[in-house]
Amino acid sequence: MPFPTHRPRRLRASDSLRRLVRETRLNPAQFILPLFVCPGQGVKREIGAMPGNYQMSIDNLVGECAEVQSLGIGGVILFGLPESKDELASGAYADDGIVQQAIRAVRQETHDLLIMTDVCNCEYTSHGHCGFVKDGEVDNDTTLQWLAKTALSHARAGADIVAPSDMMDGRVGAIREALDANGFERTSILAYAAKFASVFYGPFREAADSTPQFGDRRSYQMDPANGREAMKEIALDLEEGADMIMVKPALPYLDLIRQARDRFDVPVAAYQVSGEYSMILAAARNGWLDCERAMMESLTSIARAGAGIILTYFSKPAARLLA
Ligand code: PBG
Repeated sequence: MPFPTHRPRRLRASDSLRRLVRETRLNPAQFILPLFVCPGQGVKREIGAMPGNYQMSIDNLVGECAEVQSLGIGGVILFGLPESKDELASGAYADDGIVQQAIRAVRQETHDLLIMTDVCNCEYTSHGHCGFVKDGEVDNDTTLQWLAKTALSHARAGADIVAPSDMMDGRVGAIREALDANGFERTSILAYAAKFASVFYGPFREAADSTPQFGDRRSYQMDPANGREAMKEIALDLEEGADMIMVKPALPYLDLIRQARDRFDVPVAAYQVSGEYSMILAAARNGWLDCERAMMESLTSIARAGAGIILTYFSKPAARLLA
């Protein structure tokens, strides 16, 4: 008879017991904080839909990165808001582009902070799509050349990890080839491998000013219904040379984080995206749930599902709580 011999409640009786038997533990070292860098001096503009997150000029970004490092957070991922946008996304791969300048400045001030960059074009194109638009469609193979140039320019500026988020076919291979051909064989690639066309990116598009001016991203980002296809995308990115892979968003796709963890022996990252963050904040501001607990429960769930790396806008408050 399992009961009364077995009483699982025995191990839940006190905080010290619960702590002893806890299966999933969070560590700030596994967090990556997304940051938005913009032109100017002394700029720190709060993003309306993402309270507690800012568009920052480089001078402020450097200070922010120093704080991130002092909290023991794993690293940052940089997104850029260029001075101007055009049809060719030239701001994305310019050697003196906003992200390239930011990397150099942060690198100079905070020597061993991990700097990751988002490699994509949507913040840099006048139409807000993630690549070259030809006849109303995003042209895959032309876009690969932009992505390779962008990743290379980030590596040149000092990025440790480049993270392509565009979902073009073949981008990881194109980026690996460009990096290796130019002596950056030590720069690693975190592929946004299973990235879904998600409504939860809504607040980010305000943060990065990257809303598509026509249509949507469903011809390149994945259909939320497709789990098997996600495994195929991951396998392809690994074959092309990705060092680490990501599932994005996180909470609505925990099943895929788990499948990825079980199938592939590489570091698995998950991106708790802007909408996941903003929903918790909005509910908390209404007094509908406790922000700290929702933050920790969601992060714990993402880790329990199998993500060793979590990109999250909660990096700082979570790190403070864990200290
Ligand atoms: C760029 C990119 C996006 C996000 C990360 N990289 C937006 C998009 O694909 O529309 C979303 C991040 C977030 O919502 O926090 N393509």
